[in-house]
Amino acid sequence: MLKYDIILLDLDGTITLSEPGIVRSVEYALRETGRPPLSPERLKSFVGPPLFESFMRESGMDEAAAQLAVNKYRERFSLIGWRENLVYRGIPHLLKALRRSGAYIALATAKPQIYAERIIAHFGLSRVFDAIVGPSMTENHADKAVLIAAAMSGARPGRAVMIGDRANDIQGAHARGIDSIGVSYGFAPEGELEAARPTHIAASVDELSSILLSGGLSGEPGRFITFEGMDGSGKTSQMRAAAEYIGSCGYNVVMTREPGGSPIAEKVRGVLLDPDNEDMSPECEAYLFAASRADHVTTVIKPAMARGDIVLCDRYVDSSAAYQGGGRGLGIEKVMELNRFAVDGCAPDLTLLFDLSPLEAAARRRAAGKLDRMEQVGPEFNQRVYEAFIELAENNRERIVKIDASRAPEEVGTQAEEHIRRLIEL
Ligand code: TYD
Repeated sequence: MLKYDIILLDLDGTITLSEPGIVRSVEYALRETGRPPLSPERLKSFVGPPLFESFMRESGMDEAAAQLAVNKYRERFSLIGWRENLVYRGIPHLLKALRRSGAYIALATAKPQIYAERIIAHFGLSRVFDAIVGPSMTENHADKAVLIAAAMSGARPGRAVMIGDRANDIQGAHARGIDSIGVSYGFAPEGELEAARPTHIAASVDELSSILLSGGLSGEPGRFITFEGMDGSGKTSQMRAAAEYIGSCGYNVVMTREPGGSPIAEKVRGVLLDPDNEDMSPECEAYLFAASRADHVTTVIKPAMARGDIVLCDRYVDSSAAYQGGGRGLGIEKVMELNRFAVDGCAPDLTLLFDLSPLEAAARRRAAGKLDRMEQVGPEFNQRVYEAFIELAENNRERIVKIDASRAPEEVGTQAEEHIRRLIEL
């Protein structure tokens, strides 16, 4: 049950922890304008209130000097600073739950609106907001009460609340005659929030959830993303980068791999990859991969999904289809059939296929050194594996996305991130 129909939120210190990007950009502005550096506490006080005022207050600048400093700040912030932040754990689940309950949700921030929009989009949160309101680049005095009024203007009348981490958020709410929630996990110095007398104080995202939703958060479903491709396609490093990104969006991330991923499955992995087991039949191999998968699904993947986590798995069923089905010649369909029992309905929401030609993949593997049993087989085998992957992608276009893995890792990463963002945004 919703306690408020209109939910207004501040950005810095409430939704995102943007301190690193802000502090580094303030330091840059001070250096560039020839001002002495500030203590960590004073730097921290720049998070939240309008920058222009902070430069005057903390560095004793006059208006002209403060304007110059703001310009310098923005020089760095617009390039890199805006990405150096993260969403507080649990915020996306809360916002999505509020959205589903029918609340009107708007952002009322002192950050220039175009930055706020960019940040919200980067973290896959655009779809939860009805409005994003911030000052334009030329406005230096962002009055929270004015921003709040603008943010509410699109909503039908109802019970409204402003959520923020600083006194100006609470005072803005008072000025508009609406309720307020001060979040003490943000950047307010000791006592500041209490003195502003918000309607409620929340010390964590969990507490915030229980104030906003009586009955607390209902389970938000998890997401399952698999990373596929030839050995050497770079999927494992891409998965690590993806985990970092998804974590920065405020989700719990579980990284796992196949064959393996659970204690029993790891034992089976040992058998599968042992170069001494050269004589293993393709059928036995297919069953062992499926057997280890069954354990992995029940003990790791399904429980994580039930908690609402985002599961990233290095290889999954598609690898069996490609390697045992294509490579070993058992047939894609047959291997898929055999796996149906093992995965018990646990299908990926998204599969990223890192597409690299078998020749290029082999060259990268040779450069990296050691080969295991699966990797010691010849070029014809790898060609069949590759073709099977491509066939799978063509037959499952809504789930499998092919990414050209021959490009520079950063470029590949940007593409992967876009597809992941699209998935978590829903
Ligand atoms: P691993 O060392 O994990 O390789 P990579 O880091 O490239 O993923 O070994 C896994 C090997 O097992 C790899 O060559 C692909 C193969 N494999 C299958 O043949 N079938 C499967 O179902 C899975 C999951 C992997």
